[in-house]
Amino acid sequence: MNFKKPLLFVIPLLLAILFVPAAIADNSCLNCHEKLSAFNETEQQFNEIRLQHLGRDIPCSLQCHTATLNKFAQSNYVQWTKSKHALFNVTCNNCHGGNPDSDIKEIAHIGIERSSNSSSTVFYRNVPETCGKCHTNELSQFKNSAHYQKLKALQQAPTCDTCHRPHEFKVLNISDFHNLCSQCHNIDMRIAPSDAPDRAITALQNADKLTNEIKLAYNDIQQAKQKGMDVSAAQNDLNSAISIRDSLPVLWHAFDLPSFGNVIDSGIAAAQKAQQESGMPVSKPTPAFGTIASMAGIVAIYLLLRRK
Ligand code: HEC
Ligand code: HEC
Ligand code: HEC
Ligand code: HEC
Ligand code: HEC
Repeated sequence: MNFKKPLLFVIPLLLAILFVPAAIADNSCLNCHEKLSAFNETEQQFNEIRLQHLGRDIPCSLQCHTATLNKFAQSNYVQWTKSKHALFNVTCNNCHGGNPDSDIKEIAHIGIERSSNSSSTVFYRNVPETCGKCHTNELSQFKNSAHYQKLKALQQAPTCDTCHRPHEFKVLNISDFHNLCSQCHNIDMRIAPSDAPDRAITALQNADKLTNEIKLAYNDIQQAKQKGMDVSAAQNDLNSAISIRDSLPVLWHAFDLPSFGNVIDSGIAAAQKAQQESGMPVSKPTPAFGTIASMAGIVAIYLLLRRK
């Protein structure tokens, strides 16, 4: 029985190694775009500006810069190779359409439209639906957001790739927030509340706190288990804390910070309850303990001074 378990992992891995590169190699979009010429440094900066313009609804399209189009086509390929999408075989045609079986550009490109064309799958107001074909949960949360409503009301608002830049489509770090969010969230422009980025940062930092409390609860439960204690209640609460934490990246896309904050708080409460239920001594100093400790410190210093 037992020897079959590793096979369960090894077989899909072997299949993936054998077949994924083959599947990718068959994709004409990748084959051809790989061979085009790429951006230099200046052109790369230009592309960044163009993307920022798109996010601000300034249709700075490639139509006014046709000479660089070839290079876009290759540089976007290079960026894409660094993305998780490349790893999971999400290829150009998944977002742009077209026919990945044809090596003839005109045929391969049938149905592909420029991003500045309002009927294109990558026109920025259509991007949520394009990404949402796969990221269904993010899309359904995003639909509840003020961002999405403004976007659909043809006002200035971020779409998926304003934050997850093409073509690496990375998850943002908190340190990227200020520059990005303050394009709209600033005092001067009054497009959007200027304190939202700060509130968002605080919320995501609270999410880190939840992760920490989960680690503490996990350690307590491991120790309690070794001592043969009953940990079932603690484990239940830990499990709910973990499922709350796992739901956060998706839930975040509603950009409803008060409810997001409440969910995190309920996760922290569950993790702390799990720590108590484990029956292990509280592993970090409580505020009350801190006060006692510092008072004891003051007494000790006083005694030392008196001795001299
Ligand atoms: C035989 C080469 C070739 C193939 C195959 C090919 N492309 Fe292109 N592609 C190009 C070139 C060259 C450009 C630069 C603009 C031009 O010449 O049309 C380009 C431009 C583009 C653009 C920019 C917008 C536009 O309409 O010009 C997109 C998007 C694109 N390709 C996506 C794809 C996708 C998706 C596939 C596969 C379904 C694909 N390409 C297959 C050569 C190719
Ligand atoms: C996950 C979705 C996604 C994938 C996969 C993807 N793209 Fe894109 N692409 C976009 C989005 C969104 C835009 C619009 C933003 C912009 O203009 O750069 C875009 C824009 C472009 C443009 C600029 C052309 C225009 O119409 O403005 C080119 C060229 C391009 N992609 C080529 C590619 C190639 C080549 C691949 C495969 C190696 C690829 N893309 C894979 C989503 C994707
Ligand atoms: C054809 C399906 C598909 C489409 C369309 C698609 N994605 Fe993805 N995306 C995936 C898969 C598969 C992964 C990797 C597994 C995962 O993280 O869920 C992924 C991962 C991601 C990640 C996580 C990257 C990381 O480094 O962890 C982001 C962000 C992302 N996609 C954004 C987008 C955006 C933005 C769009 C639209 C422009 C988009 N995706 C379109 C399938 C897709
Ligand atoms: C392209 C412009 C734009 C960008 C970029 C942008 N936002 Fe927004 N944001 C808006 C608009 C417009 C609203 C809706 C304001 C309203 O309802 O009056 C909004 C609303 C919000 C809200 C809800 C505010 C509230 O008080 O209910 C939050 C939270 C938020 N944004 C967070 C962010 C974060 C975090 C970032 C960066 C990661 C960001 N936004 C980037 C335009 C933008
Ligand atoms: C205003 C900025 C912003 C917009 C708009 C946005 N995202 Fe995100 N996205 C983020 C941030 C920040 C994170 C990381 C959240 C976290 O760490 O909890 C994230 C995380 C993700 C992830 C990774 C989730 C995981 O399980 O780790 C995916 C996939 C994703 N976004 C897809 C999308 C899609 C699809 C859209 C459009 C429907 C979108 N995002 C719109 C900022 C944004």
